Amino acid sequence: MAALMQKIGSLAVRTFSRELRPTSAVSLEKVNHLNGLLSNLTSNDINLEAALLTDRGNFEQSRDGAPVTYMLLYEDNDVTICVFILKRGVRLPLHDHPGMYGLLKVIHGSVSIQSYTMEPSRGNYEGIFSSIKHPLQTITAQDPACCLTPDMHNLHEIASVDGPAAFLDILSPPYGNDNRLGIERECHYFKEKDGSQTCHNRVQLVSILSPPDFWCDKADYKGPPLAGVIELNRTSLESNHSNY
Ligand SMILES: [Fe+2]
Repeated sequence: MAALMQKIGSLAVRTFSRELRPTSAVSLEKVNHLNGLLSNLTSNDINLEAALLTDRGNFEQSRDGAPVTYMLLYEDNDVTICVFILKRGVRLPLHDHPGMYGLLKVIHGSVSIQSYTMEPSRGNYEGIFSSIKHPLQTITAQDPACCLTPDMHNLHEIASVDGPAAFLDILSPPYGNDNRLGIERECHYFKEKDGSQTCHNRVQLVSILSPPDFWCDKADYKGPPLAGVIELNRTSLESNHSNY
């Protein structure tokens, strides 16, 4: 019997594999199904070490090292599954997910998420992007997973609230070199333009370099193995391709 994380990994590949999809469109029904399964995930399901979640008070670089820890669980041409662990009082700076879907499940503590939707018609005017600023959300480990799409809530800033926090991300397609499309999918950072007035929840975002106070160290994944199970599942999917 597959562990929950193995089922989620297999379903993520089934949902997002561009090899297995007859058309370029992602099935929102499958995304919702994946979101539902992901909503049950806890830190125990991935054997997240308690030491990574130790609360030493507000982050201090000299004592704590990196503000954020990154853990890669699985990656192929179409999907990245990873965990971010944020120490108390730190944030993932406002960033985008160009052309990507993203599912996020908090598995420890709670985070605030400030998300934005860029308005394509108002586009890039000298590096300024008109965007809708959505209401600030606080999401805890008890809440269901949440989702961003290529067109909605595609930018966000995520901060730990009242202590360390951890969340699992399923991203598709991955950042970096996209072998299938022959493009480089970069993560861009933004800030609200100084003096940008919120009018009908619209703000102006400006592109910035990655903030120097943000960086990640890495930790190893020690949960149920994923690659083998996902590969088996992929093989059975390919032989039953007409069913999907
Ligand atoms: Fe993100």
